[in-house]
Amino acid sequence: MIQLKVKILYNRREKEDYYHLSLLAPKVAREALPGQFVNIWLGREDGAFLRRPFSIHRAKEGQLHILYKVVGRGTELLSQRKAGETLDIIGPLGHGFDYQLSATNYQLPILVGGGIGVAPLTFLAERLACCLRPAARIKPLVLIGAKNKKQILCAQEFRALGCQVKTATDDGSSGFKGRVTDLFSYLLSTFLNYKLSTIYACGPRPMLKELASVCGKYNIPAQISLEEHMACGINACLGCVVETKNGYSRVCKEGPVFAADDIIWR
Ligand SMILES: Cc1cc2nc3c(=O)[nH]c(=O)nc-3n(C[C@H](O)[C@H](O)[C@H](O)COP(=O)(O)OP(=O)(O)OC[C@H]3O[C@@H](n4cnc5c(N)ncnc54)[C@H](O)[C@@H]3O)c2cc1C
Ligand code: FES
Repeated sequence: MIQLKVKILYNRREKEDYYHLSLLAPKVAREALPGQFVNIWLGREDGAFLRRPFSIHRAKEGQLHILYKVVGRGTELLSQRKAGETLDIIGPLGHGFDYQLSATNYQLPILVGGGIGVAPLTFLAERLACCLRPAARIKPLVLIGAKNKKQILCAQEFRALGCQVKTATDDGSSGFKGRVTDLFSYLLSTFLNYKLSTIYACGPRPMLKELASVCGKYNIPAQISLEEHMACGINACLGCVVETKNGYSRVCKEGPVFAADDIIWR
């Protein structure tokens, strides 16, 4: 974990309320693992006193990429930052995905992202592309869920990384009509080999809860990344605890990635 001031290389609007931030941060980029996050300080301006956590979207060539959605004061302030300015960040933080599981067996990795939850999954797909056994010809399957076609994120990025991509939208404007968890259940019920898979997911809590329930039913191992509200982000305040089968765990320290069947879903 390092605290440092890093230069913004670009901070551009991708679509709708979604932005892509690129930071020059070779040390953090070198250490980062898929599923980890950084905590960004946005100054003491009104409503943005605490640092804000963001998943590492990509980390390569000395650059750290963040994909974010403007939802409130902090992310609005972030969207106003310009190339050449500096940002104070702490990272990489937390415990990421254990993707070696997929590298050492022949099970299909299925990545499930809902909304901005796809952000950490591209970094994971990039690492999986390097470590899956080429002879097994396994291509990660990525399921992306969103409200509508315009809000589908990163489909091209995943395809460029050699993944198969399927989408689900609430209004049916792209791919399967319905929730991404319904698409997942449909695939499981129609193609037996999807049951021989490992699931990696990030998205809204109800989506993760549903996914955990389906995976439990089919006995499929699943790792989920929780995006709980955080205060300190560095293991000092207990503001982010979740209930697990082994007691309370801090999302910023023991998480954000947990085994889905460890969480006590309420
Ligand atoms: C480990 C982790 C990784 C994250 N990665 C990303 C990412 O890659 N991209 C991204 O856009 N966002 C990510 N988030 C969520 C992001 O931190 C929040 O959206 C951000 O802090 C909101 O700040 P704000 O001041 O703009 O909004 P606020 O004014 O604090 O809140 C605005 C609205 O957003 C809701 N909100 C705030 N924080 C969260 C949260 N953590 N989860 C759900 N709802 C929230 C509030 O309830 C409120 O309705 C992540 C969160 C965590 C904990
Ligand atoms: S946010 Fe403070 S301990 Fe996790």
